[in-house]
Amino acid sequence: MLHLGDALFYGGDYNPDQWPADILEEDIRLMREAGVNLVSLPIFSWATIEPREGEFHFEWLTAILDRLHDAGIRVDLATATASPPAWLSRSYPETLPVDRNGQRLRVGSRQHLVPASPILRAKMRRLVEKLACACGSHPAVAMWHVSNEIGCHVSESFDPVTIKAFRSWLAERYGNIDRLNTAWNTSFWSQRYGSFDEIDAPHLLPTFHNPAQMLDWKRFTSDTLIDLMLIEVDVLRRITPDLPVTTNFMELHPPIDYWKMASHLDVVADDSYPDPADPASPARVAFAGDLARSLGHGRPYLLMEQTTAGVQWRASGNSWKRPGQFRSWSLSRVAHGANGILQFQWRQSPGGAEAMHSAMVPHSGRRSRTWADVVELGDALARLSRHNDGELARSMPSASVAIALDWEAMWAMESMIGPVAVSPHQLLRDWHKTAWEAGHTVDFVPYDADLSGYRVVIVPGPILASQALAASLAQTAREGAAIVITAPCGIYRNDMSAVLSGYHADLSEATGLSVVDLWPATRDNYERWAQVDPSCDRISGSVRTVATDPLQLTTLSGQTLTGGVWAEDIRPERGTDTLATWGPGGAAGDYAGSPAITRHPWKAGTVFYAGTDLAPLGRSWLFAQAQRAGGLGDEPVPPAGVEVIRRGNYRFTINHSDEPVTLATSVVDLATGQRLSQVAVRATIVTYDA
Ligand code: GAL
Repeated sequence: MLHLGDALFYGGDYNPDQWPADILEEDIRLMREAGVNLVSLPIFSWATIEPREGEFHFEWLTAILDRLHDAGIRVDLATATASPPAWLSRSYPETLPVDRNGQRLRVGSRQHLVPASPILRAKMRRLVEKLACACGSHPAVAMWHVSNEIGCHVSESFDPVTIKAFRSWLAERYGNIDRLNTAWNTSFWSQRYGSFDEIDAPHLLPTFHNPAQMLDWKRFTSDTLIDLMLIEVDVLRRITPDLPVTTNFMELHPPIDYWKMASHLDVVADDSYPDPADPASPARVAFAGDLARSLGHGRPYLLMEQTTAGVQWRASGNSWKRPGQFRSWSLSRVAHGANGILQFQWRQSPGGAEAMHSAMVPHSGRRSRTWADVVELGDALARLSRHNDGELARSMPSASVAIALDWEAMWAMESMIGPVAVSPHQLLRDWHKTAWEAGHTVDFVPYDADLSGYRVVIVPGPILASQALAASLAQTAREGAAIVITAPCGIYRNDMSAVLSGYHADLSEATGLSVVDLWPATRDNYERWAQVDPSCDRISGSVRTVATDPLQLTTLSGQTLTGGVWAEDIRPERGTDTLATWGPGGAAGDYAGSPAITRHPWKAGTVFYAGTDLAPLGRSWLFAQAQRAGGLGDEPVPPAGVEVIRRGNYRFTINHSDEPVTLATSVVDLATGQRLSQVAVRATIVTYDA
């Protein structure tokens, strides 16, 4: 059994059935050389385990488990359900998913499955039962890995079985069809339904979908995927009640409410593939780390998959990690609460779709730089794991800043039609990045969380008016915290009916205002419109619009900030101050002088509201106000490019830049055992400050 709090783990996905059996000895030798102590297998081996329906083979797997156990390597045993074998799809074609266009997807890739299919679920259940009985008590098995990236490629299917399940789900939610008609406002466009049997999934449609139907479809999709996981979890808990169960999450994966999913698992594990070409990737590493820790409510987690160097699947190009980044980003994940760093995959595939994806053992084997990096990280993790008898693995980072996160609110933003597209994921990432750039570790919290102890709570775009959120915020305001709420806020009720009395609804007591109009400011077509040439276009060259002049805001002290695409007519109540106004220039000049960012003293705390999606400078300005109001001290700011994170008594100093950083005094880096007076380019050092 795996006690995640005992040590730091290192390894990756191990897919030995791609290779002749005799590669196992070399793999084990190399795993020992690299310090690997945990591998995940056999994630995609359903066809090897059950080559024909009802014919199960576990001998090969047991032989591998025996050898790994002899070598002291533990196994995160996967249930192998992520890619059904060809015979299953052939015998039961109704298990193949149907896309939004009504096209059935075929065999030849992976995850070709209908999540709601009773036949598929029965076959999966039988496989997992057989596997748990055959291998669940093997001493090498430390934990269970359910499926793989649930809902990654196929999260929804538009087949008859799923549509029937959707109807039953709706019947249960609404009780009778009249309630559904009211909630979905079906009088509009003659969408009224006479019975649940008339309802369809939101397929490819002539024009816009009904947003309430879409939101319910997303809720149903999430419930269906969680149920699919629970089929396996229930079998595993029955047959091997003592083994912990996990599955791999994918950051903010849109289709599944990860708060709900995590509540059924013992361990959260995540897969994270920041693009090395993106300068904000270090922020994304921190985002993924903060999120995975938060989904487990502060427990240590596993980084289940990342690359050693690069992926092969980005349509926009696949940049390789620069020297130092594999190690530094991995240690950043440890700093954020990971007790295991695992990669996709152990040995680079000899063929197939992922042959050009990096791995721990590249095609060229030990001669590559990647192998040297892999061994170096294994050594660092082993040293850190041993230090002070495992103190690091037992301690966790703590945060004074929280960001409220709710999947339903994200689905609502994705389901609404206009007035402008705001990406809920981008809002969350942007606000996390702002707090991270200011030097903070951040907890993500659900809307109904207990927020005691946080000094700053950020709520990016709570579009669904939520009483639960209002109640949690009231409690943190009583403790004197600062709260930052941003647009879009309180536009819809839970069923996507618009709030009619001025937006903000349940949150207006907190924000001290309501919003009476939206002033969308889209610039989407700017490139096309920019064909206008003022040197010859006498009239159109004189027309100013939101596209020619982006949204501007002016703070009380006269500083200019830039807004995004969302603006609104804010009506503050008595006691609410205006901190920034729209204008004077740009399209927002039409509303010059009216409030854009406000501050409201509420209970013992302060609520800031931003009626736009701010650019980085605006976010950092507003965050600084909140930091001050929430009583967060001004910590010394590390030099540019340097991230400092604390996990218990350990301090991780990560130099993300291309310049070495000189330290005030020399220190012993626990990850290498060396005394250093500089943090090298793209390097991380770990020190102990007890
Ligand atoms: C993950 C997946 C792995 C592998 C990896 C490649 O999404 O779980 O099996 O495909 O991506 O980056």
